[in-house]
Amino acid sequence: MPYDPTIYLGSAAHYRYGRPAYSPQLEAALTREAGLDGPGRLLDVGCGPGVLTVRLAHLFEQAVGLDPDAGMLTEGSRAAEEKTIMNIRWVQGRAEELPTVAPGPYRLVTFGQSFHWTDERPVAETVYDMLEPGGALALIVHTVTGRTRPPGPGKPAIPHEEIKALVAKYLGSTRRAGQGTAPQRTHRFEDVLARTRFGVPRQFFVPGIPDLLRDSESVLSGYLSLSSSAPHLFGDRLNDFAREVRALLANRSAEGIFWDWPGDTEVVMAHKPD
Ligand SMILES: C[S@@+](CC[C@H](N)C(=O)[O-])C[C@H]1O[C@@H](n2cnc3c(N)ncnc32)[C@H](O)[C@@H]1O
Repeated sequence: MPYDPTIYLGSAAHYRYGRPAYSPQLEAALTREAGLDGPGRLLDVGCGPGVLTVRLAHLFEQAVGLDPDAGMLTEGSRAAEEKTIMNIRWVQGRAEELPTVAPGPYRLVTFGQSFHWTDERPVAETVYDMLEPGGALALIVHTVTGRTRPPGPGKPAIPHEEIKALVAKYLGSTRRAGQGTAPQRTHRFEDVLARTRFGVPRQFFVPGIPDLLRDSESVLSGYLSLSSSAPHLFGDRLNDFAREVRALLANRSAEGIFWDWPGDTEVVMAHKPD
């Protein structure tokens, strides 16, 4: 699919504050399942503001965060600086430009909620060639469907359906992305990888955060960090949208605190033979 540089226009500043974190046990699970033991390099493709890059860099000698969106990379390098993580190189480029933009070899190549934006099958084949023997590819997403929802910490849940209705009021009922509409997904990552040299991958789940609390501004930022409700899509009605979301949230929680359950963290992992 051709890359549209406006899909996340204006979203980067909202991403770190607005998006829920992956499972706190993700590092341990990846270390175990990918056999990480210190040496080697990480490539995080579609790294956005470095959500995974910054979390995983300490498990490697060097890490590379790759993303076509310059705003996202700026946020990523700021996050790494804040945590004094010094072994990350930030590269602007698309997955389809691999291996040229960030040549291998890598011990682990991750895609956090980004594989679906790429030309999946050829990109997976390229990654296969870039991995060191025994290296792994990990596709990481939040998954709610089919997972058991925890009881929650006794605060109101984010009123997602009502916020989505507001998004539809401003942007229409078809899910937007950049200058067009979001592509409809009709297939699973597992089926794509099964048709590559990786063969059938392994799928596993790591428990999500059961009691994540977010304030109203973070909930609003979460929506503005999505390609389907990125700031640029609202044009000069952005402030009106933000005002309506804030009013809705104030109506649902007097203290402005909400429970967020983004689901468990799903990992689809495939190895290159040793
Ligand atoms: C939903 S964000 C994911 C950010 C981060 N990896 C995470 O786990 O939260 C998707 C990212 O994929 C990037 N992206 C979109 N098309 C891409 C492509 N063709 N190659 C690489 N990255 C791409 C976007 O710029 C965006 O930063």
